[in-house]
Order: sequence, then C-alpha cells, then structure tokens
Amino acid sequence: MTWHKIIIGDSRDMREVPAESVHLVVTSPPYVTTKFAEGQPFDVDEYLDLIRSVFKEVHRVLVPDGRVCLNVADIHTKYYYKDGVFSHIPLAHMVLSEVLKLGFRTLETFIWDKGYNRHLGGAPGPLFGSYPYPHTIYSNVYWEYIFVLRKPGSKREVPKEVKEKSRIPYEKWREYTRYIWRIESESEWIKEHPAVFPVDIPKRLIEMYSFVGDIVLDPFLGSGTTTLAARLTGRNSIGYEINPKYLELIKRRIMMGQRLLLGGEDEIEIKIREDARESEWV
Ligand SMILES: C[S@@+](CC[C@H](N)C(=O)[O-])C[C@H]1O[C@@H](n2cnc3c(N)ncnc32)[C@H](O)[C@@H]1O
Repeated sequence: MTWHKIIIGDSRDMREVPAESVHLVVTSPPYVTTKFAEGQPFDVDEYLDLIRSVFKEVHRVLVPDGRVCLNVADIHTKYYYKDGVFSHIPLAHMVLSEVLKLGFRTLETFIWDKGYNRHLGGAPGPLFGSYPYPHTIYSNVYWEYIFVLRKPGSKREVPKEVKEKSRIPYEKWREYTRYIWRIESESEWIKEHPAVFPVDIPKRLIEMYSFVGDIVLDPFLGSGTTTLAARLTGRNSIGYEINPKYLELIKRRIMMGQRLLLGGEDEIEIKIREDARESEWV
C-alpha cells in the first residue's frame, strides 16, 4: 500500500514538504510555447525565474544523493530575438543551466523520441520550413530531452531487501539504458490537458532512479501522470499542480478509488490551497 498527496497550489512554495524528505523528482516543466499560441510576447527571463524558484524548492526537499529527472524540449520561435527571425532556441539547455547553478550535477541525458502521432492530427510535420526547396529545413521537433541530475551529498544507504524488491530485470535494463527512447506520445489522445507525457516515461524513470517505498515528487503534475506511475511501481508520491481545472482529470488519470497493485487500497489525499489559479504557462 502506498500514499499519494496532490496539492493544488504553486510549487514555488512547497511548504507541505519537509527538507530532505523526497528521494526522486520526475517532472516536465510547462512549455513556454503555450503562450505564443495566444500571441503574447515571449518573456524568457520570467519563465526562467519560475524554473529557478521551483528548483530551489526541489533542492531543499530532495535528500542528499537524490535524483531529478527533468523532461524539457527546445523550441522554434520568432519571438526570442528582437529581430523577429524564426530560430531554434536551446531552451532545454537554458533550463538545465539554471538548475545546475543551484548545485545539482548531471548524471545522464536521454532522448525521448515521441513517435509520429502529431502528424495524424494534422499539425505542422516534416514539411515545416522551406519545403520543397533548400535551405531552411528543420527537423520535425518530435523529440525531447530527459536530463537526469543528482543532488551531491553522502551516498544513500538502502537496505538489501529494499534493493532486492527494486531489482531491474536484465531485459529491462538493456532497454532502459538505450540512449534514445522511442515512446509514443499520448498528448494527442488526452484532450483536457495540452502537454501530458505518457505514463511509460515517469514509470521507467521511477524504476531506474528510486527504490520501492521511496517518495517521488512532481512539482508540475499536470494530469497526474507521475502519481499514476508511482502507484504502478509501489512508490509514494507528492504532486503540485497550480491549476484547479485539472483536478477532475487528475482523479481520473490516477485511477482514484481503484486498486492498482496487489495489496491494500492506496491512500490519496487532495489539498486545494489558496494560491491555486490559472497558470501562466502550461
Ligand atoms: C508540461 S505540464 C505537465 C504535464 C504532466 N507531465 C502530465 O503528464 O500531465 C506543466 C504543468 O505545470 C503546471 N504549472 C505551471 N506553473 C506551475 C506552478 N508555479 N506550480 C505548480 N504547477 C504549475 C501547469 O498548469 C501544467 O499543468
């Protein structure tokens, strides 16, 4: 039996989580691009401020030698440079560099190849750019980074029986240690949230970077995917989502009220805080 806390509130303040109490963070921060769709100006400094504030809290709550799995993508936009020239912006590395300044170290980088679902939906695909002529050709941008970080500190001691329960079978190990992960995006099929990752992403990361019974945190919970993955892997979890409109989706996605693993009913607690509101970025 595991427990899961869902807090509808701003993760720049994770007052419910004591210092050095979380073993693993798995998260996908909001995409700045949701703003462009509304034709708003691109304020990267404000966005990086949010990242800094949330990851300062992440650093506080993570145990020494704890891990952070950060799913982020680069973007193409004409709003970043003042000259309006459409460019590839290395946003993922801008986010990573902010996070590293807080004292984390990089452990590994994986590439998530999201498959080709997007083109079924008719959104811009491989014809993006100067098609059919050279010389402005972009990739179809259907991949993202997964940076794995560690908080330096004395090595975690894990009892042998817990290690045994968390063992990764040989075949899985071979699959998980491939540099590129081909996992189909689910975002096209979940209409109520624009930026969901498939449950296989957090599930795999939780199996790789935590032990059974650990506490996993997602400060940008969205539809609740990380909570679902924690339930499926026998870990406890805490998730923050600022926007109250996603609460019903979260309850459904985490299969609240249903038994997922053998054993007792998981405990699920939901708290709606006074700072819950529509978020700037999704
Ligand atoms: C990219 S989505 C995460 C999606 C999630 N991985 C999933 O599978 O559903 C980012 C989420 O962060 C939320 N968010 C933005 N700013 C936040 C903040 N300051 N505190 C908590 N959540 C925030 C957004 O509302 C959005 O749902």
